[in-house]
Amino acid sequence: MNPTQTHTSLKLTRRLRRLRHSETLRALVRETRLSPDMFVLPLFVCEGEGVRREVGSMPGVFNLSVDEAAKETERARAVGVKSVLLFGLPDHKDAVGSAAYDPEAPVQSAIRAIKRQLPDVLVMTDVCLCEYTDHGHCGLVIDDEIVNDATVDQLVRTAVSHAAAGADVIAPSDMMDGRVGAIRAALDERGFENRAIMAYSAKYCSAFYGPFRDAVASAPKFGDRRSHQMDPANAEEALREIELDIEEGADIVMVKPALPYLDVVSRAKERFGYPTAAYQVSGEYSMLKAAAMNGWIDERRAMIECLTAIRRAGADIIITYYAVDAARALA
Ligand code: PBG
Repeated sequence: MNPTQTHTSLKLTRRLRRLRHSETLRALVRETRLSPDMFVLPLFVCEGEGVRREVGSMPGVFNLSVDEAAKETERARAVGVKSVLLFGLPDHKDAVGSAAYDPEAPVQSAIRAIKRQLPDVLVMTDVCLCEYTDHGHCGLVIDDEIVNDATVDQLVRTAVSHAAAGADVIAPSDMMDGRVGAIRAALDERGFENRAIMAYSAKYCSAFYGPFRDAVASAPKFGDRRSHQMDPANAEEALREIELDIEEGADIVMVKPALPYLDVVSRAKERFGYPTAAYQVSGEYSMLKAAAMNGWIDERRAMIECLTAIRRAGADIIITYYAVDAARALA
């Protein structure tokens, strides 16, 4: 049987392959686009000067002293990435995480340095205690319990100190109840009513944060984060978390991690129509890196495919360690 003959009998009016014929045509009908200005680059700021120490489990990601963090921000800015999200690595940790609101700590110093050198860059700051407590928990611990309300007081102090240093967007990632409202009220009281809050609203208790905890030495010394971070099995509850944060004054809501939770991103965007961020977390990054370094996947293609999927699901803002690489790939 001649295969060409068999197929000539097909009388198709709709042939979806037509629009896939050339790259120009594919670009013309492409539904989802990425642009560097939707990316946020996370930076891990440490003490010292001239420090640029690669994170073992995150090749291409560094612990940076304030001067180096400013340089990294400049490099990102040069390829169109205009937002950074700062995390701190203090030399000194204690039970209550007091370095979190020290005006001379790495994050506060980096905010001032970046704002001075690159005033048009948007500086976002992560607000949580886990990088600052000696036990590695996100809050104050009493009788092995992470207590909510006293922790919120510490988070408020931290948020206010970030705003005072010049942060544009405060991003609480702790998952305590009521923290968004408390931070909003404290910022307003001090004249920071124009500083925005990006709430880590639906933050899951995820195994994909492993490499991050290596980066900032924040793995809990005992127990885990299941009493405050969300159960990966729940989506309805994520919508309740997001709704509450919006009621409390969040300007941007976040789903985290990103790729394993695209259904949540999509439902959140559809339900609330709010500016929605998704965080492609450390484990998502490191998995791609590890596979690429073994020659098992094409890193550039896999990176763009994942970021496109996150955008397609409904994210307006993507927080990613790939921000600079992706911006370069899109250029
Ligand atoms: C702080 C915080 C974490 C991440 C962002 N903010 C870690 C955690 O909750 O343990 C994870 C980011 C990543 O994995 O890239 N609470």
